Amino acid sequence: MSTSAAVATAAPAEQYNYDIVKKFSIMALVWGVLGMLAGVYIASELAWPFLNFNTPEITFGRLRPVHTTLVIFGFGGSALFATSYYIVQRTCQARLWGGKWLPEFTFWGWQVGVGGGAILYMLGFTQGREYAEFVWQLDLAITVVWVAYFLVFTMTLRNRSQPHIYVANWFFMSFILAVALLHIFNNLAVPVSITSLHSYSLFSGVQDAMTQWWYGHNAVGFFLTAAFLGMMYYFVPKQAGRPVYSYRLSIVHFWALSFLYMWAGTHHLHWTAIPDWTSTLAATFSILLLLPSWGGMINGIMTLSGAWEKLRTDPIMLFLITALAFYGMSTFEGPMMSLKSVNALSHYTDWTVGHVHSGALGWVAMVSMGSMYHMVPRLWGTTIYSLKLIYVHFWLATIGIVLYIASLWVAGIGQGLMLRAFDEYGNLAYTFIETVTFMHLPYVVRAIGGMFFLAGMLLMVYNLYMTIVGARRTVGVNAPAAAVAHG
Ligand code: HEM
Ligand code: HEM
Repeated sequence: MSTSAAVATAAPAEQYNYDIVKKFSIMALVWGVLGMLAGVYIASELAWPFLNFNTPEITFGRLRPVHTTLVIFGFGGSALFATSYYIVQRTCQARLWGGKWLPEFTFWGWQVGVGGGAILYMLGFTQGREYAEFVWQLDLAITVVWVAYFLVFTMTLRNRSQPHIYVANWFFMSFILAVALLHIFNNLAVPVSITSLHSYSLFSGVQDAMTQWWYGHNAVGFFLTAAFLGMMYYFVPKQAGRPVYSYRLSIVHFWALSFLYMWAGTHHLHWTAIPDWTSTLAATFSILLLLPSWGGMINGIMTLSGAWEKLRTDPIMLFLITALAFYGMSTFEGPMMSLKSVNALSHYTDWTVGHVHSGALGWVAMVSMGSMYHMVPRLWGTTIYSLKLIYVHFWLATIGIVLYIASLWVAGIGQGLMLRAFDEYGNLAYTFIETVTFMHLPYVVRAIGGMFFLAGMLLMVYNLYMTIVGARRTVGVNAPAAAVAHG
């Protein structure tokens, strides 16, 4: 790893604001459990629709944005706040800027935003824009929180006692800036009245769709990818105990990714009313994205060169390297799906949902879990409660993902082929309901896959809870010493 990250090992733990990192870590676990529970429930509703119980608040349509919001912004977002605050302090050897209260404000603001959003969706209040369903009042509040986050992060960078800015911080910086841009422009809206929760988008028709998917895709690019790469570039070298394979490649990775993602959003709107050239442009940039994505994956995996035996002995490493493998897989699948001919088959099917979760579970969740297993014991100045439980978690998660994505390849590709099949007279060969019946079994398998994944998550919560409780018992005896020794 770069000198800055390596030197940070020597700093005493009290120098940093770990309190805020601990709070965000705990909430990442809480939202992770609730969000995945919602995921398992909606997956089960698709397999067994009676679970809707004719109760509007828990129907699929309302719980789906609850799921996406809790896992992306609650679980992923809190994990990103936690790790970015941890990494920026350690690699800059500077305490988090903003005193006690500004970081604290970002914590409470974020939690209220996520929780408030979820409750309002269940009550039926939404902007109806995917991953941007928050009502306009929450949008404004989130903007203020984000500006505070930007200030805390950049001012800490500015106060660094290291000359160098470690690459993980570059990724976090681009994530913070890009998300600010996306959030503001996609949510430009006119409220119905100052007291109403409803609003109308400033855009309409094709412009509206293109703005939304410029947002949607870059939410994937900067929230679910760039930011988690920041996490990866710190925790993989740390856990491997080796420098990052190629620092130069990581910088190329950063610039190429930041430039290319912004142009690819329209691949979500192939074969619709958008101008055809925008589709072609998006497909071209999506194919180009394969290169930096795989460059980054190779860079991460090769960081383990000379320490491959860790894959046999260290379950945390297994999480991190498997996350990179899924990063590679989903960034291969994505460009393929962005080709207009492939998208004609995949678009209105569950193949897309399978692709989403190979990225979301395989990459986002696995890299977060690996990072939390590394970070939490260090935050509390102790060692992990049980390595064996991490192995069990790893296998539950991996089996869960494989069941999830393999069943949706079957469901999605099968569904796509059925919807496009014609008989000799040019009529549709299958009715819509036949495609639904066909998908029942894959839906059941997906729900079971989700249960595996959730079970692993619960095991992680237990393991980390026992770790923290254990640390509290020994506090004052060996905690500060252990924190420094861990590095
Ligand atoms: C226990 C694990 C999970 C299960 C069972 C699950 C299940 C589901 C289900 C059933 C849907 C609705 C699909 C549809 O509309 O047909 C969905 C959507 C989604 N989930 Fe999950 N999920 C899980 C974890 C996650 C995680 C950890 C993330 C992100 C980090 C995530 C991100 C998403 C996204 C982005 C969508 C929208 C997909 C789209 O529009 O194509 N999920 N999930
Ligand atoms: C080079 C990288 C990638 C490319 C080019 C790409 C491309 C695509 C394409 C073409 C679609 C289908 C659009 C449609 O037919 O509606 C899609 C959907 C999606 N992808 Fe990717 N993908 C990439 C990586 C990822 C990763 C790593 C993740 C998750 C962490 C991810 C998350 C999603 C989500 C959430 C959607 C569904 C959006 C929605 O309809 O709600 N993608 N992607």
